[in-house]
Amino acid sequence: MSICALGYVVITATDVAPWRSFACDVLGLMAGAARADGALALRLDDRPFRLLVQSAATDGFGAIGLECADAAAWRAVLAKATAAGVTVTHGDAALAKSRCVAELACFADPAGNAIELYHGRMTDYAPFVSPAGVSGFLTGNLGMGHAVLPALALGDAVDFYKGVLGFDDTDRISVPVTPDPDGPAITVRFLHCGNPRHHTVALADMPAPSGAVHIMLEALTMADVGRAYYRAKAAGHHISATLGEHANDRVFSFYVRSPAGFDVEFGFGGWQPDWTSYVPTISTIDSLWGHDWDFG
Ligand SMILES: [Fe+2]
Repeated sequence: MSICALGYVVITATDVAPWRSFACDVLGLMAGAARADGALALRLDDRPFRLLVQSAATDGFGAIGLECADAAAWRAVLAKATAAGVTVTHGDAALAKSRCVAELACFADPAGNAIELYHGRMTDYAPFVSPAGVSGFLTGNLGMGHAVLPALALGDAVDFYKGVLGFDDTDRISVPVTPDPDGPAITVRFLHCGNPRHHTVALADMPAPSGAVHIMLEALTMADVGRAYYRAKAAGHHISATLGEHANDRVFSFYVRSPAGFDVEFGFGGWQPDWTSYVPTISTIDSLWGHDWDFG
């Protein structure tokens, strides 16, 4: 597939300090090297960052960084995007340096979600050491996790991810938003790219004032999730969903509200389907147990 993984997420912040305590003390991420631009680099593994918190006028989601395996794959995706009428802006050397990549280009999906498409990610091999004792995060060729983004015109957005970016269907779900099972529902489309992660991007036909619905990080053990859950509660962060197990991707997780306003799903145990024999499904529930939601 053209795109191999979610490489990073850019976040905007009016003040990066709350992110430092939330990400390092609660989630257990490692602060990266200090940067001249003042952005906060947050590490999950041996890459210079997986989350980049940039000073800005607003708190919210900035962009997803999607990784291509090489320059040829990168150019091919950009050519398809241009042919589809997408406005593509090539990042300059300063932006590429900021993202620690060889080359990148910026565009938006049909819902307006910002995408940075790159190849040639730099790796400094510094070992990941969690300040909160997290044993580690599942990354490597699976990418850093997944992102769930808003797309009110859901069909157009799905067509773009499949037809232009080369994603494919994993699953879909429609969840009622009222006690009436036949009442209004939110539909989520789960899409995978060129790695075994159940979904790298999901699109939901719901508004998200912060710019994202949630991002997901996958720890290496169940204990990592439980400990993070109790750290988040002890620190007084809003728990958007209690511990639970998702039906479609089997992730054991909880959701905590980040300083950006969107949730971080902190999980473990995601299913990695064999795409050569996989048949897309339609789920009628979101979780096997738990995940009591509190959207307040
Ligand atoms: Fe998720």
